Amino acid sequence: MKHIYPYSLLVLVFLLSCCKSETKSEVQISQPEKPITSAHQPKPFNISDFESHVDTLISQMTLEEKVGMLHGNSMFANGGVERLGVPELRMADGPLGIREEISEDNWSPAGWTNDFATYYPAAGSLAATWNPELAYTFGNSVGQEARARHKDMVLSPAINIIRTPLGGRTYEYFTEDPFLNKTLAVPFVIGIQDNDVMACVKHFAVNNQETNRGTVDVLVDERTLREIYLPAFEATVKKANAYSMMGAYNKFRGDYLCENDYMLNTILRDEWGFKGIIVSDWAAVHSTVKTLENGLDIEMGTPKPFHEFFLADKLIAAAKAGEISETEIDKHVKRILNVLHQVKAIDSTGRTQGSLATQAHFKDAYDIAAESIILLKNENNTLPLQLEGVKSIAVIGNNATKKNALGGFGAGVKTNREVTPLEGLQNRLPKGITIQYAEGYLERYSKNENDQKEEVTLQGPTTIDQLDATKLEEALTAAKTSDIAIIFAGSNRDYETEASDRQNLNLPFGQEELIQKVLEVNPNTIVVMIAGAPYDLGTIKDKSHTLVWSWFNGSEGGNALADVLLGTINPSGKLPWTMPKHINDSPAHATNSFPGNESVRYKEGLLVGYRWFDTKHIEPLYPFGYGLSYTSFEFSDIKTNQTEYTDTDILSIKVTIENTGKFDGKEVVQVYVSKPNSKVERASKALKAFTKVHVDSGKTQTVSLEIPIKELAFYNVDTKSWEVEKGVYILQVGNSSRNIVSKQKIRVTE
Ligand code: BGC
Repeated sequence: MKHIYPYSLLVLVFLLSCCKSETKSEVQISQPEKPITSAHQPKPFNISDFESHVDTLISQMTLEEKVGMLHGNSMFANGGVERLGVPELRMADGPLGIREEISEDNWSPAGWTNDFATYYPAAGSLAATWNPELAYTFGNSVGQEARARHKDMVLSPAINIIRTPLGGRTYEYFTEDPFLNKTLAVPFVIGIQDNDVMACVKHFAVNNQETNRGTVDVLVDERTLREIYLPAFEATVKKANAYSMMGAYNKFRGDYLCENDYMLNTILRDEWGFKGIIVSDWAAVHSTVKTLENGLDIEMGTPKPFHEFFLADKLIAAAKAGEISETEIDKHVKRILNVLHQVKAIDSTGRTQGSLATQAHFKDAYDIAAESIILLKNENNTLPLQLEGVKSIAVIGNNATKKNALGGFGAGVKTNREVTPLEGLQNRLPKGITIQYAEGYLERYSKNENDQKEEVTLQGPTTIDQLDATKLEEALTAAKTSDIAIIFAGSNRDYETEASDRQNLNLPFGQEELIQKVLEVNPNTIVVMIAGAPYDLGTIKDKSHTLVWSWFNGSEGGNALADVLLGTINPSGKLPWTMPKHINDSPAHATNSFPGNESVRYKEGLLVGYRWFDTKHIEPLYPFGYGLSYTSFEFSDIKTNQTEYTDTDILSIKVTIENTGKFDGKEVVQVYVSKPNSKVERASKALKAFTKVHVDSGKTQTVSLEIPIKELAFYNVDTKSWEVEKGVYILQVGNSSRNIVSKQKIRVTE
């Protein structure tokens, strides 16, 4: 029982640019631009600098003091050894920003008045920016807040692959694609750790559903594990020097992740060279000797007296009984002392002080939100809003005023600043325009769900999907008597929540009916979704000419959304996952392999997300990588630097992007690769490079994207190693996984 809060493409004018080799004479051609990438270097892991100090400390500790460091001694810290100057390791969630201070021994808020923080956009939002530099900004900003709150570790980023659209934590995770995932996770971790605070990358690993998460045994084949579920974790170790990792709740091939020798020792430490610490998810430990020997370092958890934890009194007893050696215990203590040193928690000279909820951090949250909003449909060019002659706008929907910093079962943020969509419009619309707000639908859950809020539910909240007659009437009146209507629909963080998965893709609370009725009385209606995961928008897509997607979008979400609607910001977000037409089109559901019971076998294998839809020729509602702009872009002069490569080469591909519309804007150039006639199973395409580029209206930019040939490797289960298959590969360049404008053939030779 925990985390309880009061219940709260302009059609893509991408013409086949390879056919269009000449550039219009009036277009000013600039030199190749540095694309938006992130080149931040990780903090080093300097074990040798502190080795003798660490050894001295250990030699002075009693068994009890050592064991005290291996388990939670309060809700978010292990035990320190004060007499030796070893501090507690202080942790804080998480993905939405630094969580409010929690009581020492239970989940209730500590009631501090100085722990108001910046609420950052949820991870899905960051992923939709497709902007690694913003991932650094996010990590760096939240890292500063962690330091201001005297924390040593941020329990973030959460980077599990989105296997099912119904996953309760979809909003908290990045994407269905391993390449996008790692490209964002690396700068994110570097950003956090640049502030003398550890990132705790979670949840290691294959924690892709909430249903039965505490018991389910995940069975996934080795190639899929390596190619889909692990790459981002691996990259945070190898390219970002992540100082810590969180062991997941579930089992993998029979063993809990927090005592999984193969995952923790063999893969993470021996193969990848991870030198940091592994912290358990809260109450995810099930054994004493096995857990420690199989690689876990700190057991964290929920209320029971801390000395009753598996790595507390029981560990002291096991050591005294000779069931585990003190050398083994020392190994884990040493790792903890090492990471405390890395972040200057032991000798704090020159340690980053940080800052909390500053204007600069709100700006960071704004920048992420502004680039995350996705224009799904803009058939009549209704957006950006034309305000000439507009006297009144109806703002309809509970989501126009709903706050999402807190909510549901899981880590949120206590903040003084959360600009709602309604407030954003009030801030940004000219004063002469009247806003008529109508709640439209009520957020209603079935009674038994409310009763069980304190329990980990197996399925998401059941909603009452009937509209309230009075609320509906108010909404229709507002719509009828306004020039424009904007409906804010979607979900919220009570509906999408940790510890339960959704039951279906339906829009909750009768919203579909509401939207249809409002459209009937005012065809000049814009539908804005605020949600963190896919929903069934089929009917709405058909009936509404304008459809915008926003997220649980942080402290400045409402301002960013208003700026997009009014055209101050040209939308540049792209879907980080596939929006299916029907749930059974999605791989885990099509293969009837979700949620399993005692175990779940990932029968779709490698074909997660768009890999499945593309390979099986299933039309999604909206494809991975999709998102429109107020302007139009054209790609041309798509050329690789060579046509033949060896596996140690780096392929470079240049793309010229012309902004052929009236608005300045950003576009994401996406490069997918396929391998015809492969000796192993392959998805029909897989993302291998992307870059986001700003191009002024009427201007042209040339970007260069690099793909190390090694990136094309598959995991060979027989040789247990990565292998680049020789032969022909096709590079597919486009601005979504389904809008490919150019195909280039290359060959990999011996
Ligand atoms: C979640 C973690 C979180 C931890 C501490 C767990 O329930 O799975 O992501 O960091 O609680 O709040």
